[in-house]
Amino acid sequence: MRKRIRIKFADDMKIGHPLIDEQHKNMVEEVDAIYRELSKGEVDDNIVKKHLVFLLKYAKEHFHTEEKIMQQIGYPDYDEHHEAHEWFIQETKKLIADYNRYGPTKSLMVHMHHLLVDWLISHICGMDKKFGSYYRRYLREHNV
Ligand SMILES: [Fe+2]
Ligand SMILES: [Fe+2]
Repeated sequence: MRKRIRIKFADDMKIGHPLIDEQHKNMVEEVDAIYRELSKGEVDDNIVKKHLVFLLKYAKEHFHTEEKIMQQIGYPDYDEHHEAHEWFIQETKKLIADYNRYGPTKSLMVHMHHLLVDWLISHICGMDKKFGSYYRRYLREHNV
């Protein structure tokens, strides 16, 4: 079994766009909340539902925010980034399908936590930071 780790939002996760940084911070707090609930060892139906609703809403709003800015500033890796977002939405839908089939199980919460930790590391601290570098350079070069 993989070890569960606690993650806190840090300055080096910031990309320099206030709304995107705020949304990323909310996601980090969500991951931490799941960690704390898992540590308690109980799986509450309302809590599982709350997280699933958060994830779908987050994906819709946050990805829209990022992709809109990418299109506005002509980000060259838009397609690859959009594909990663689509992948996350599909994974979230799989979790919802699992919930509908098996109900609020501990394995669902563990799976959700793994998905989000991996997403934080590979996407928010990887692809999003790469976009952040482009975004900040764009602002500098265009004196925005
Ligand atoms: Fe993001
Ligand atoms: Fe992203």
